[in-house]
Amino acid sequence: MPQRVIDAIADYLSRNNANSGGAYHTSRNTDRMIADARSAMGDFLNCDADEIVFGPNMTTLTYAMSRALGRELRSGDEIVLTLLDHDANFAPWKTLEEKGVVIRTAKFTPEDCTLDMQDLAAQIGARTRIVAVGYASNAVGTINNVAEVVRLARQAGALSYIDAVHYAPHGPIDVRALDCDFLVCSTYKFFGPHMGVLYGKREHLKRLRPYKVRPNTDNIPNCWEWGTLDHECIAGIKACVDYWEALGRRVGAGLAPSETRPPASPQEGRSQPSLTTRRAAILAAHDAIHPHERKMTETMIGGLLTIPGLKLYGITDPLRFENRCATFVVRIDPHTPLELATKLGERGFFTWDGNYYALNLTEQLDVERRGGFLRIGLAHYNTMAEVGRFLEALRETAV
Ligand SMILES: Cc1ncc(COP(=O)(O)O)c(C=O)c1O
Repeated sequence: MPQRVIDAIADYLSRNNANSGGAYHTSRNTDRMIADARSAMGDFLNCDADEIVFGPNMTTLTYAMSRALGRELRSGDEIVLTLLDHDANFAPWKTLEEKGVVIRTAKFTPEDCTLDMQDLAAQIGARTRIVAVGYASNAVGTINNVAEVVRLARQAGALSYIDAVHYAPHGPIDVRALDCDFLVCSTYKFFGPHMGVLYGKREHLKRLRPYKVRPNTDNIPNCWEWGTLDHECIAGIKACVDYWEALGRRVGAGLAPSETRPPASPQEGRSQPSLTTRRAAILAAHDAIHPHERKMTETMIGGLLTIPGLKLYGITDPLRFENRCATFVVRIDPHTPLELATKLGERGFFTWDGNYYALNLTEQLDVERRGGFLRIGLAHYNTMAEVGRFLEALRETAV
C-alpha cells in the first residue's frame, strides 16, 4: 500500500473521525472527503460521482445488487454466468434459483482457460435478464472480451454485470466505453484499502429498489450504502486514486513503474503538461504498466516452462499475451500447492495455494481435490530481478 494511502487513513482518524451528515466541522469534512473520493473513483472508472457506490467489499456489494435485481425477476427468467469466474460473481446470482430463476453457465476452453465465447453467445437468449462475467480471471489470468459480452447482453435486452476485481490493477477501465450496466471492483486490489466499489448506470441506481432502512435517503448513490461506512478507508480510496494519478505523471516523465516514487511535491507531480486531467494521468500510468507487466510475463512464463514437471494453466502463447494478465497458476506434481507455497513463503516469496474462490474452475480442471494450484501474482511494483529470483527459488523448491 502506498504510504500516502496509509497516511490518509491515519490522518482522517486523527483529525476528522466522525459520522456523516452532522452539523459540525469534522462531520462536514467527512462529507466533503467522501464526495472527493467518489469523484476520484468516477475518474478511475470513467463515470460520474453519483454512479459510484462504496461498500465493504465486492462480494457484499454483489449480494446487495443481486437481491435488488432479483426483486424484478420472475420464475423462468434466466441469468448467464461463467465457469471461469470467482464465486463472488457466481453464488450471489445462483441464490436467485430460490425464486425460480434459471442459471445458465458458459464454459471455458480447458486447453488455454479462455472463455468459450460461442458457448456464451449460445447461453444468452430471449429469457436472459442478466449476464454476469469477470473482466479477468483471478486464477489463470485470462482477460475476457467483456466489450463483446456487454454487446451480446444488450442485444438480448439483458443487463451486464462485470466483475473487474482482478483486472483493475492491470488495465484501464472505462465503463462508458464498455457501456456495461454494472461493474464492481475492490480497492485493496489496486493499492487502496479493504473496500469495494460498485459502478451502476444512473438510470438503474435510480430505478431499482435497494433493501434499506427507512431513515436512509432515497437519493443515489447513498441509498445503496447502508449503515456507517468505513470512512477512514474511503479517505484511503481518494489517496489511492491520487497515487495512480501521481504514478501516471511520473511515468509520463520516462520512468518504469517499479522505479517510481510518489512525487515529492504537487508541483513535481504535475510536471507533465499534456496530462491535463486526473483521468489522463491514470491512463498514462496504465500505458507504462502495460509493457512492464508484459515484459515480466514473458520472462516469467518462459522461465516457468523450463522447470521440470511444471504444468502452467492458461494462455502460454506469447502471441496471445494481450489476453492475459501477470497472474499465473501452476502445478508441479507430486508437490502440493500448499507445500510449495509454504516453502516459498519461508524464502520470502508470497504465493497463494488452493482455489482462490474460483471454485468452478478448479473443479472443472479436476485440481480441486488435489489442493488446487500454486498462484504467482505480479504487479507493477515488481521488478525483472524479482522475477528472476522467484524462478530460481521455485526451481530449487520443486526438486
Ligand atoms: C475476480 C474476483 N472477484 C471477486 C473477488 C471478491 O472480492 P472481495 O474480496 O472484495 O469481496 C475477488 C477476490 O479475490 C476476485 O479476485
